[in-house]
Amino acid sequence: MPKESDFELVEAPIPRPAAGEALVRALYLSVDPYMRNRLTGRTTYVKGVNIGDVIVGGVVGQVLESNDPRIAKDDIVQGMLGWQEYSVAPAKSLHKVDPGAAPITSSLYALGMPGLTAYFGLLDICRPQPGETVVVSAAAGAVGSLVGQIAKIKRCRAIGIAGSDEKVAFITRELGFDGGFNYKTTPDYRAKLKELCPNGVDVYFDNVGGEITDAVLRQINTRARIAVCGQISQYNSEEPEMGPRWMGQLVVKQARVEGFLVQQFADRYDEALRQLGQWLREKKLRYREDLIEGLENAPRAFIGMLQGRNIGKQLVKVSEMAAHA
Ligand SMILES: NC(=O)c1ccc[n+]([C@@H]2O[C@H](COP(=O)([O-])OP(=O)(O)OC[C@H]3O[C@@H](n4cnc5c(N)ncnc54)[C@H](OP(=O)(O)O)[C@@H]3O)[C@@H](O)[C@H]2O)c1
Repeated sequence: MPKESDFELVEAPIPRPAAGEALVRALYLSVDPYMRNRLTGRTTYVKGVNIGDVIVGGVVGQVLESNDPRIAKDDIVQGMLGWQEYSVAPAKSLHKVDPGAAPITSSLYALGMPGLTAYFGLLDICRPQPGETVVVSAAAGAVGSLVGQIAKIKRCRAIGIAGSDEKVAFITRELGFDGGFNYKTTPDYRAKLKELCPNGVDVYFDNVGGEITDAVLRQINTRARIAVCGQISQYNSEEPEMGPRWMGQLVVKQARVEGFLVQQFADRYDEALRQLGQWLREKKLRYREDLIEGLENAPRAFIGMLQGRNIGKQLVKVSEMAAHA
């Protein structure tokens, strides 16, 4: 588990944009589980962040200066920038955000990477059918809270697994999940899943791995579909965790397990954003943001998210949007 003392806040001159670049002042930055994998010193599917580097992540910000016709001063943009107050980036890597269409933070959440992950992971990888039972882990987080709601839109039974009673109340009372349980206080996951999923599990959207996944696999139905979205229970492990092996279940139940990365659907993002935007406007999708103020508190927000302190999407507010940058 990272510690706040692993991070350093450094003052530096504001960078100047070269031709084709823009200078962006961060308004909000996103802290996400994948960042933990970037801090391992290894290259996984993305380049790692080395000791001394600025951490890279999703940022929504305001353009202060642009040397490219695609982006203008004062535009609100979203991009992979640094945990920095001021960043310079190639204009072609920035996406304009319309502040009139939706709150700008949604470009880091329901209308951003987590929303796209929930949309494609559930609908394309799992193909849920009306009446089926969908179970999702890390259910009160950014991706999980959207997965359960999309399952409900598709007329499925949605069951969430999360790490506190408050989170379970949030997904069942505010988001419309049919049931859920707190894995930190439930002694027998399998018995609880049997109670909550009397017809078995047709779809499992796995955000966590480990013992929770072992328990869900024992409850799957014939032709179940399992999307492996993340394995957050393992991200801070130094050695791979050994555990019960339920792969035989996949044979007997002729089930399909598929890992995915949201980027593999990049050529269909527009389709997903149109649909997610419509569900938001129709209030079929609800979301909650967990805001921490101040760039200096980004490490606290990041560590808190890894420890499950967030309900909904963890964001850091860096500065106020100005009428004129
Ligand atoms: N494949 C992709 O393209 C893709 C894209 C985005 C995200 N992801 C993955 O999706 C998952 C959710 O990401 P997110 O951004 O929505 O984060 P999030 O759910 O908002 O935050 C992470 C949550 O993980 C839970 N958690 C932490 N340690 C855990 C453990 N040992 N066992 C069980 N749960 C634990 C915590 O909630 P509790 O209180 O419930 O423990 C915490 O709130 C992550 O695994 C992430 O890597 C994958």
